Amino acid sequence: MSDSPSVFSRLVAKLVDYQHVLIIILSVFLISTSGWILMGRGLRNGASIWDYLHVYLGLITAALSFSMLVICCIKGRWRQMFPWLLADFSQLNKDLFGLAKGKIPLAGGRGLYSCIEGLGILLLVGVGFTGVIWFCLQGSSDALMWRGYHILLVKGFIGFFLIHVFCACLHLLDFIRN
Ligand code: HEM
Ligand code: HEM
Repeated sequence: MSDSPSVFSRLVAKLVDYQHVLIIILSVFLISTSGWILMGRGLRNGASIWDYLHVYLGLITAALSFSMLVICCIKGRWRQMFPWLLADFSQLNKDLFGLAKGKIPLAGGRGLYSCIEGLGILLLVGVGFTGVIWFCLQGSSDALMWRGYHILLVKGFIGFFLIHVFCACLHLLDFIRN
């Protein structure tokens, strides 16, 4: 029997390689074009190209956010991304005290960067999930409620995005300095 990986496992490996960059491109697109969308309780007959792009690229992003969550949880990685689930705040406290003294936290482990990344995935999954529920309930008044939750979570996700990019820049600065 051949030991070469199947087409499916090669496809999954490629997805894992590119999912972070795909999520960056798609979420930047969805956020930056959101000023041009207007959908309310459902996609209208005369919906604009921006509305259609938001809905269908949003559905792809929602699926990618779920696969990112799964990949960040398997092989025990959930302990690193969500240490607060185990009430383990040791490295987080160390990073925060260090930060107060002007020390940039180290990436990886169960520290500040990993906790922020974990919260970011949960926010993106929440944004995608509320979007999908809106899509399924289009036309009803419940759709308006889920649109409200979606917009609320989007605000949290934009906050994460800005903090995460700032952390990535600090990380890069530290790397160059060393
Ligand atoms: C997962 C990635 C997604 C991101 C980053 C995202 C981002 C956004 C942003 C930034 C807004 C504008 C919020 C505001 O007005 O303050 C918005 C609105 C909205 N999104 Fe998404 N979205 C995503 C997925 C989806 C999906 C999957 C759907 C539905 C299939 C969806 C449906 C909507 C609707 C209905 C609105 C309100 C539009 C309106 O009536 O003005 N989104 N989204
Ligand atoms: C321009 C935007 C972004 C930049 C420059 C960026 C940069 C980075 C960098 C440098 C790392 C590695 C940090 C480390 O070593 O711990 C990282 C990890 C990570 N980022 Fe981003 N990122 C961006 C957007 C996003 C978005 C939108 C998400 C969505 C949730 C995200 C989720 C993650 C996660 C979960 C990790 C850790 C797991 C992994 O390595 O795959 N990032 N990012």
